[in-house]
Amino acid sequence: MAPVNMTTSVSSVILLVAFLSTPHTSAYSDYSTKCSQDSPCMGVQSWSKDDISGNGVVSYTTSQENEDRLTKRVTSFEESDNGGWQKIKLDPSVTYQKIQGFGGALTDAAAITINTLNPEMQTKLLENYYSAEGIEYTVGRVPIASCDFSTGVYSYDETENDFELNDFSIAVDSTEITGNKLNLIKTVLEMTVNKISLFASPWAPPAWMTQTNSTVGNPSLRDEPEVYQSWALYFSKFFEAYRNEGVDFWAVTVQNEPAGNTGAWQDLKMSPEQQRDFVKNYLGPQLESTDPDLKIMMHDDQRVHLPTWTSTILDDKDANKYIDGIGLHWYSEVEDYVTWATKPFDKMNDVNGKYPDKFMMGTEACNGFIPIIDQGPKLGDWNRGERYGFDIMSDLNAWAVGWTDWNIALDLSGGPNWAKNVVDAPILIDTEAGDVFYKNPMFYYLGHFSKFIKPGSVRIGVESTGNLISAPMEAAGFLTPDGEMVVVVMNRDIAGHKYNIELPGKGFINVDVPKHSIQTFIFEQ
Ligand SMILES: *[C@@H]1O[C@H](CO)[C@@H](O)[C@H](O)[C@H]1NC(C)=O
Repeated sequence: MAPVNMTTSVSSVILLVAFLSTPHTSAYSDYSTKCSQDSPCMGVQSWSKDDISGNGVVSYTTSQENEDRLTKRVTSFEESDNGGWQKIKLDPSVTYQKIQGFGGALTDAAAITINTLNPEMQTKLLENYYSAEGIEYTVGRVPIASCDFSTGVYSYDETENDFELNDFSIAVDSTEITGNKLNLIKTVLEMTVNKISLFASPWAPPAWMTQTNSTVGNPSLRDEPEVYQSWALYFSKFFEAYRNEGVDFWAVTVQNEPAGNTGAWQDLKMSPEQQRDFVKNYLGPQLESTDPDLKIMMHDDQRVHLPTWTSTILDDKDANKYIDGIGLHWYSEVEDYVTWATKPFDKMNDVNGKYPDKFMMGTEACNGFIPIIDQGPKLGDWNRGERYGFDIMSDLNAWAVGWTDWNIALDLSGGPNWAKNVVDAPILIDTEAGDVFYKNPMFYYLGHFSKFIKPGSVRIGVESTGNLISAPMEAAGFLTPDGEMVVVVMNRDIAGHKYNIELPGKGFINVDVPKHSIQTFIFEQ
């Protein structure tokens, strides 16, 4: 991941000022949930068809004001509204994108920190993400070889100029170097109650494929056809090796953050033109022959670059035909705070308008990524949970088919990360204790989407209105493959609100919601 990656210094300054004036740097309270052997803190209560039959409504609430954390209640539709100033009106006759899912990345750092827990608590932690009592992730991201959240730099073939990749091996993924990452992936796939869509992303090729014989400092590939061909073959070898271990992938991103990072950790820099030509001439044809069902995502980088990258790559029909989707990172998260200036989500709406057959997917996000100002974990910070909620909801309302968090777990210092690029995560592990981990508000905010908006759900029309005194509630609505409606509503305000949700023909859900809260409602159409 990259720190603030802005195109001009002017906009950087504006955004930095806006960022500093937000509550990031102020004191905060710790709203984390501690999980230990004595208090394993599992258990989101499940709902049943009975709860929602007829006029029944199931609600789940997470609130800063009280103990509610994905807390279930059963209410019902009413004939008239509660007179609240904020109104949400659903229109299932209007439909948008189909959902792929929500999840996080299975990194070396996650595997290494999870391994420090005793076996029972390891299972508890993973159940929090993947079981029916957890937040039921449906997406997983896997780095292809090392990234900054590894203990160092390694690749799957260190033999110089081995263009045929005869020495390619994923053996390292079953060693302590990676925290036995392959084993973590297999455990997750065995445990999950849902089908998980896995996607893979490379940070860097073997150093010998680069012009500088190094994976740091934003290198480029050696400008030789054998090297391009070999780098494309490396992808096929990866998927073949994982397939032989029983792990199948849904998709791949061409390159993690091709626009570059600070230079302190692995990357392979590509201009949009270089990515276009690599896909068109090498990676597209290569994967079409070995992995024809695999989806290919371009970009996998900040929203701010969307216009140039999509027009360069997708306006070329020979590159376009290999591209299924567009991966997006949130590390202009700063821009989420000045949406009036940067309109990050409008960029997504524009892309959907121009290329409606390409899906958009949030492929990476985390808090605590800005050096000095805002780096590393803030245990239990509510604000960071709300930022997840805002970004996920805004992405969904701008055509994203899903959202992927970065490391599923880290230690209390936000690592391990060999380049000291430490960040926050929804679950932080006390690696000394052996049986203690903490769930941050981010975990619950993510859960309000991931647990209920099942893959195959379709976003529906939602009109949210307020008045001069009361801004509209932030809301998104979906129709699940089982025919239920799911509506997520967020209140980021410092005050509680009385509002209502109308499903014409059925009635009103009347709600009195506390400040700083998020709710998910489930009911029949
Ligand atoms: C690339 O780096 C490796 C490791 O430092 C070294 O063994 C090798 O000789 C280098 N290759 C070239 C072409 O400089």
